Amino acid sequence: MAWGLVSMTLRGLMLMVILLWTVTSTDGGDVHVTCVFSEDCVLPCSFQPDSEEVIHWLKPEDKNLSTIHSYYYSTDQLKQQSQPYRGRTALFNDQIPKGNASLLLRGITLQDQGRYKCYTSTIKGNKESCVNIAVEAPVRLVDIQLSDDIITCSSTGIYPEPKLTWSTDPPSDLSFDPGTIQNSTSIKVDDRGLYDITSTKQFSRDRTNICTVTSGTVERTATLKQQDPVQGPPSSEVSILCSVSQSDLLTFDLTWRFNLTDTILTSSYTNGTPQMQVDDQWKEQVQSLSDSGSLQLHKLTMVHQGTYSCELSTARDTHLILTYLQITPDKLSDVSDGLSPGAITGIAAAIIAAAIIAAAVICFRLRAFCPQCRSNTVI
Ligand SMILES: *[C@@H]1O[C@H](CO)[C@@H](O)[C@H](O)[C@H]1NC(C)=O
Ligand SMILES: *[C@@H]1O[C@H](CO)[C@@H](O)[C@H](O)[C@H]1NC(C)=O
Ligand SMILES: *[C@@H]1O[C@H](CO)[C@@H](O)[C@H](O)[C@H]1NC(C)=O
Ligand SMILES: *[C@@H]1O[C@H](CO)[C@@H](O)[C@H](O)[C@H]1NC(C)=O
Repeated sequence: MAWGLVSMTLRGLMLMVILLWTVTSTDGGDVHVTCVFSEDCVLPCSFQPDSEEVIHWLKPEDKNLSTIHSYYYSTDQLKQQSQPYRGRTALFNDQIPKGNASLLLRGITLQDQGRYKCYTSTIKGNKESCVNIAVEAPVRLVDIQLSDDIITCSSTGIYPEPKLTWSTDPPSDLSFDPGTIQNSTSIKVDDRGLYDITSTKQFSRDRTNICTVTSGTVERTATLKQQDPVQGPPSSEVSILCSVSQSDLLTFDLTWRFNLTDTILTSSYTNGTPQMQVDDQWKEQVQSLSDSGSLQLHKLTMVHQGTYSCELSTARDTHLILTYLQITPDKLSDVSDGLSPGAITGIAAAIIAAAIIAAAVICFRLRAFCPQCRSNTVI
């Protein structure tokens, strides 16, 4: 008798399990949605339109089923709404009569990840479907800096956990590149649950140093290279290239700096048209900026000798290009460089003597044509 009861109960349970299973699987599995951290996201749900709509968005959390948003009697019903969702949800109310029960969730956080249940019912019957939310904070900007021959590469506010790799172009044998051996990468989690990553490496001067940060399907790079030095006398114009291998660049931001810290100018290019802002201290020296980002300088003095860096960033990549500008002095001062004051006085005396002699010679030659000159020299 007892066995019969047990087996009946088991059969009942099994039947219930099968029923539940068929009910939850009628929609053909979960819908997967990837939402972007801090942005708005739409959780899709639809039903056969009819009157007396009831909509419940629910989320199983631990052992509880949190109410995210409810709608019945033709209006939003938010008394039972779970605290973290207060003020962040909305249905597309005008679309509900058309069978659209999609939920708008604003300001996505990492806690919003997980499985949501959309329960709908009308006079005709009910329906359940599930939406699985993944949250991503994609890598946006990779920053690269050089200080004392050490390159620092970093990126912040990333989810899921990022990876950072170093490489060079042309490639180098990793086991012998001292830069790769001396790397160090560290990861931190901020109070929002997002990752900050930073890594340092010895600067390989003879190659392009490449730092790649990857998270999920998103990959961003930053590169750093040093170009051949440029020389120029103070009197002439000097052009410093900002050469990046991508030639089809039209939309990017550009910053020229002196000795890595002092900003010369910033410019943002939209469809190839630059919008330039030159620092007051460099207004005299900056002559122009080419469409490709190269810098034309003039009126230079010895204080302008140093490293010029061009930082070019697009939505995908950042490129930092360093060029050393050597001011080659004009001929006269060239001779005087490294000579003692005594020698300079000697040279100056010689030059003055030569000038007097030259004047005398000219005057002498002019004598035939210039009576005044003649009378002057007679005295
Ligand atoms: C519901 O309406 C919103 C807003 O118009 C739209 O973005 C969404 O794609 C619609 N969803 C469905 C399932 O029709
Ligand atoms: C479940 O919900 C109740 C009431 O809303 C709350 O007191 C309890 O802490 C919740 N439990 C968990 C595990 O979230
Ligand atoms: C950093 O160096 C360690 C060995 O010290 C190596 O295992 C790791 O792969 C290197 N990381 C990168 C990003 O090159
Ligand atoms: C710039 O850097 C060079 C060496 O790299 C240095 O000789 C020069 O004094 C620096 N100029 C200024 C103005 O700091």
